[in-house]
This record gives sequence, structure tokens and C-alpha cells, in this order.
Amino acid sequence: MLEICFRDRIDPAPWKRTWRERRTSNSALDQSGVWRYRELLPFDGYHHQAVSLREGNTPLLEAPRAAEYAGLDHLSFKHQGFNPTGSFKDNGMTCGVTQAIRLGKKRVACVSTGNTSASMAAYASAAGLDSIVFIPHGNISYGKLAQALEYGARTLQVEANFDQILALVRVLADRLGIYLLNSINPFRIEGQKTIIFELMDQRDWNPPDWIVLPGGNLGNTSAFGKALRELRDLGFISKLPRLAVIQAVGAAPFYDFMRKRGEFVSVPDPHTLATAIKIGDPVSWPKAVQEVEVSNGVVEKVTEQEIADAKAIIGRSGIGCEPASAATLAGIQKLVRSRVMRNDEDVIAVLTGHVLKDPDYIYNYHTGQLKDPEGNNVDSRYGNRPVVAPNDADAIARILEK
Ligand code: F0G
Repeated sequence: MLEICFRDRIDPAPWKRTWRERRTSNSALDQSGVWRYRELLPFDGYHHQAVSLREGNTPLLEAPRAAEYAGLDHLSFKHQGFNPTGSFKDNGMTCGVTQAIRLGKKRVACVSTGNTSASMAAYASAAGLDSIVFIPHGNISYGKLAQALEYGARTLQVEANFDQILALVRVLADRLGIYLLNSINPFRIEGQKTIIFELMDQRDWNPPDWIVLPGGNLGNTSAFGKALRELRDLGFISKLPRLAVIQAVGAAPFYDFMRKRGEFVSVPDPHTLATAIKIGDPVSWPKAVQEVEVSNGVVEKVTEQEIADAKAIIGRSGIGCEPASAATLAGIQKLVRSRVMRNDEDVIAVLTGHVLKDPDYIYNYHTGQLKDPEGNNVDSRYGNRPVVAPNDADAIARILEK
């Protein structure tokens, strides 16, 4: 696997100042929460070709209600759902598509559980490239499928799961001369590092004790670990936060591997309602193992019920996210209960996707109709059922006074 390395030693102070100053600039590159940190991206001499939709710039939100739910004194969410296409994929895609342009490619493609395809479709269209999206038929949320269609990607719904389609497309990409923009693409990983750069910048370069994220294909885990190591090695931060990677129980090969070691055993038929992380054979697992180990991190897994409840709590915090993102809060609760995480520790959870990515899930949860992949009911513990009311002021008043 290709990985990009920086070798020079630098003085961080002037870079920190420059990056802060760029926040007040009107130039497109400076306004991007990715390209603002271009000194740490491998695009020297090619910045004029950058394809930006002003990605990044995502907020760090205090969430006392979610902290209390998890048993922590404080908790903040870095919400990547505020990106142009509503997920963290935009941080990487701006770099991936820029690299495609640099290489003179005309067509790009990806296999996706939905967010990568939404993001690639948008950036490819913005760059004037053709894009081809491969998605598992019937297994991605409508919000994400709708984005791929709207942004103009040629969309193939393949009758296979994510892992099977990825194997297919890796062969096809060579045959058809398509530039593949899955997270095995190292330029996407480079872009996703800026989630960490921006997070540390927002905290005045004070690293937290923990950074918690959901794990699917494990590209983000490898990007976060690499970013943190680089920041430490270059002198921007004094210590490495511990990474906590959270998987869904029905799609947890990384969790299993970190417990048992030996050979990496993939899950042939992964299942979870958090379709974004419904992945049984994560391509970036070797890098992710290294990053979790170097950071003295942990891997945890959570049930469908735990994800659904945590998601509702994030919603009630006024923040909201898609199901995969909520695995973070569910995982934190578990790690606090098992005393792996102390309640006074400084914890940041990364919410990877926007609340409107998967509205069917939300409606079903709040109306008590959500069923897990085995067909069992997921309890609507924090449900908020809509009420049908007649066209009558007195009747409505009676409902509201109850
Ligand atoms: N959260 C969301 C919302 C995602 O869309 C993904 C991955 C992940 C977490 C997991 O990140 O793969 O880097 O470990 N979505 C990919 C996609 C697979 O195709 O959109 P990871």
C-alpha cells in the first residue's frame, strides 16, 4: 500500500499563524478547511488545480446531554456532517479528485456504502469529470443514493455486498482505465488527515485524551492515526490522543482481530442497520492496526439497540447524525462502563455523517417500527412519535394540554 511521508523538520509556530490568518481570507483555497492546511498535503505546485466545494470548516460542538448519557463530564462532537455533501468523505474527495485531474484522468469510480459515492459524484461533476458509482443494491440509504443521482454519477446498483463489489471493481478499474477513488487511494487518506488538523487548530493545538470514530473500511482510522503521528513528529502537538474505533456487532472483523489476533478473518455476510459501516473485509485494516497500537487505542463493538439509542440522544442534543456516526456515543458509554475510559477524560467523538442521510431509519425508530437485520424489534426508548391531528383548534388544544 502506498503511503505519503514527510521528512523535513519545521518550526510549527509560523504555520499555525498562517493557517489561522487564512480563515479570514476570501481566496477559495484558504476558505477550504482542507486546502488551508496545504503545507501538509502532497500537492506542491498543483494547488491551482484544486477542486474545492469549501469542504471542512466543520464545528466542534459541546454536547452536555450526550456526555451525561455516556457517563462523561464533558464530550464534544467534531461534526463532519457539516461538509458540502454531508459527510467526512468530502475532506478526502477534494484531494482524490484533484489528483485525478493532475493525472489527466477523465473518468473516476468508487464502490461505496453511499457517502463516498455522494461525495465523488459532486466533486467529479464540479471538476467536469465523468463518475461511475457502484453501490450494493438495496443496501444504501435513499439520501445517499439520491445525491449520487442528483450530482450526475452513472450509478450501478450491483447485486452483491460492498466487499464483493470492491473486488470486482479493482479488476475493472485497470481494464477500463478508470481512476479508482476508494479509500485505498492514498490521496483521499491525505485529505482526511485535515479533519485532525482542523480539530487540533480549533483546540489551539491541545490534544484530547481520546478521539472516537466509527470503523468500517478503516480508511479514516488510518488517516487519523497518520495525521496525529505527523503532528507529533513535526512538533505541533505534545502527545498522541488514544484512538477508539467503534464497530457494529454484525460487522466487526477489526474488533475480533484486535481481541484474538492470529489471522485477519473477514465477515462474509456483514449486517447492520448502520449501512455506512456494513463492511466485512476492510481494506485498510493493516494500517488501522498500526495506528490503534501506536496510539495505545482500543476497538469496541456496539449493538443495533445501542446505536439507535445513542443516535436519538445525539438528536436530542440538537446535533443529529446518521446511524454509523452514533456508534461513537454508544461505544463511549460502553468504554466508560468498563472503565477503559475515565469519566473526567477529555473526549472528542467524530460524527461522520449528517442526520438527513438516512431519514427512513429515523422515522422507523421514532414510530417503533425499526427492526434489526434479524427482524427483531429495536426498542424506541427515546422515541418521539408524530401525532396525527384533526383540522380542529379545540381538538389540537386538547392534544397539546395532555
Ligand atoms: N461513517 C460514515 C458515515 C461512513 O460513510 C463511513 C464509510 C464510515 C463511518 C466508516 O469509515 O470506512 O473510513 O472506516 N463509508 C464508506 C462509503 C465505506 O462508501 O461511503 P471508514
